[in-house]
Amino acid sequence: MLNILGIESSCDETAAAVYNTNRGIISNFLFSQIELHKQFGGVMPEIASRSHIEKIDSIVKTALEKANLTLSEIDVIAVTNKPGLPGSLLVGLCFAKAIAYAQNKKLIGVNHLEGHIFSAFIENPNIPFPHICLTASGGHTSIYLVKNFGEYELLGTTRDDAAGEAFDKIAKLLNLGYPGGPIIEKYAQEVDFIDFFSYPRSHITDLDLSFSGLKTAVLYDLVKKNAYDLKSKKILDNSIKLKQEVSSSLLVCIADIFEQKLNKAFKLYPELKAITFVGGVACNKYIKEKLSKFAQAKNLKFFSPSPQYCTDNGAMIAYVGHYKAQKNEFSDFSLDIF
Ligand code: KG4
Ligand code: ZN
Repeated sequence: MLNILGIESSCDETAAAVYNTNRGIISNFLFSQIELHKQFGGVMPEIASRSHIEKIDSIVKTALEKANLTLSEIDVIAVTNKPGLPGSLLVGLCFAKAIAYAQNKKLIGVNHLEGHIFSAFIENPNIPFPHICLTASGGHTSIYLVKNFGEYELLGTTRDDAAGEAFDKIAKLLNLGYPGGPIIEKYAQEVDFIDFFSYPRSHITDLDLSFSGLKTAVLYDLVKKNAYDLKSKKILDNSIKLKQEVSSSLLVCIADIFEQKLNKAFKLYPELKAITFVGGVACNKYIKEKLSKFAQAKNLKFFSPSPQYCTDNGAMIAYVGHYKAQKNEFSDFSLDIF
């Protein structure tokens, strides 16, 4: 039996969790910096790293307390070492190295994206292989072919903005607040997810994605409707109706693009047994339901974590740490963030 402490600080969440090889996740705790970044409409790297350094000690302590364990009862320390904001990653990595060194514990560097890819296993440990994983967050949007624990192949990724970034940027355009995804979902629900404006779907024929063109299409459609002034960069129409109609059309468009790509992946890899949908955007109930229906129609199983494991968290890092520990894939103290 092993206890793995997972530490995550790659972006704007300071997070820690404990995974027990018999009992699964036994604690999961975090501090979200959303309130600190709200006024900027996005994450400010310098503010993020300063907040991590302030919070990390108490977050790790609380995660241990909630697991009813002391640091001496932890066997392995798993920590996100890439990719992410350099200053933020360094806080978590240096903290993990320090406690691992002081307590003579094993260290495992975990790729943040591998954390997301396997996050659906925390609640469903029997997801069949091979499956396709759609990871969509504020920083990444990618499609992976997942063959086994730690074995995955990138099939396609965004050529520009991530899907979550599209939600956040368009929310900023409309003055809706940050993060955009949940607010856009709320407005879209109020008008029953109708596609009012038919924004362009993906023209990319392979499994790559692109969302920056969509943002531009929304912008120019607003300009055409005399709802946005390009010179002053200000929204001219502040009506609820416009917010609802843009939100709804955008959400339906992004959900359609995801379905389009999964359909393509399924055609290319007919041996697939399941689809997993992970990352912050997977908190979106409308997209989740649409992709679940798609999977059902194709006779594929569908898994998506509960929201606490969709957005950045320490549990997914501890989870990856546990199978890496079982494979003896430990890191040494020269572990870097690149
Ligand atoms: O995984 P995450 O917490 O952080 C990153 O690694 O980026 O994802 C945050 C992103 C934000 O862009 C946010 O707008 C989006 O996830 N998001 C959503 C929803 N909740 C969060 N997007 C669409 N619908 C949601 N309900
Ligand atoms: Zn993430």
